[in-house]
Amino acid sequence: MENNYVINIQKLVKQFPVGDDLFTALKEINLNIKTAEFTGLVGSSGSGKTTLLNIIGGLDSASKGDINVLGHSINSTNHNEKAKIRRKYMGFIFQSYNLLPVYTVYENIELPLLLNGINSIERDKKVKQAIEWVGLTDKINSKPITLSGGQCQRTAIARAIVHRPALVLADEPTANLDAENSHQIMKILVSLNKEISTSFLFATHDEKIMNYLKRIIRLEDGKIISDVLTDIGNKD
Ligand SMILES: Nc1ncnc2c1ncn2[C@@H]1O[C@H](COP(=O)(O)OP(=O)(O)OP(=O)(O)O)[C@@H](O)[C@H]1O
Ligand SMILES: [Mg+2]
Repeated sequence: MENNYVINIQKLVKQFPVGDDLFTALKEINLNIKTAEFTGLVGSSGSGKTTLLNIIGGLDSASKGDINVLGHSINSTNHNEKAKIRRKYMGFIFQSYNLLPVYTVYENIELPLLLNGINSIERDKKVKQAIEWVGLTDKINSKPITLSGGQCQRTAIARAIVHRPALVLADEPTANLDAENSHQIMKILVSLNKEISTSFLFATHDEKIMNYLKRIIRLEDGKIISDVLTDIGNKD
């Protein structure tokens, strides 16, 4: 990967049209993230966390700036290529688990591998490994409606990492969970970060998540106001 950076952003500006005006949601953001980092974007509601994650994930585009994600210049990459990069090298975890209700845990987790054209023997091995990682072996054939919130989010995590992506983007992944489930989820993500060297970028204002982060980037009013390694990050 170019310079070992998973994400390399320079002077990113994002403006949204609001009536006849433009609202500037992100103001000249510079940001570098390397392989295997475990970082959080932290800031109050409206500070721009989701907007930034969506641009990095290619779900939205920037108004200005150089945005390099996984060695690709995202602003000059067409829609199909972006979809391919997402499918192969990225995983997404959202607050609302976004599981497909008619599919079982196994089938939900298998989906990214099907989309990537992985053969059935390899798929089966990878899905079972991912299910083991998140501790859901006993729910392998269950449908999402029969699962608890924590179990749904663990399924969503398995789906996000089953293809061992280089980058996982997680927007408020614990917002719908109680304290115990949130800690459990974060512990799973920390061990995956170690095991498969995936870079994680969170958007959160949950103190419970912050205790696990190695690096905290604070956003305020569309600007980065601080970027620090935490005690855990400094120990590495
Ligand atoms: N499509 C849009 N059109 C206009 N303004 C938008 C749009 N999307 C986001 N914004 C504005 O951009 C700013 C940043 O929004 P964003 O969703 O990134 O905040 P956030 O930090 O994720 O907040 P939260 O913690 O509530 O999720 C907000 O002021 C929001 O109103
Ligand atoms: Mg948000």
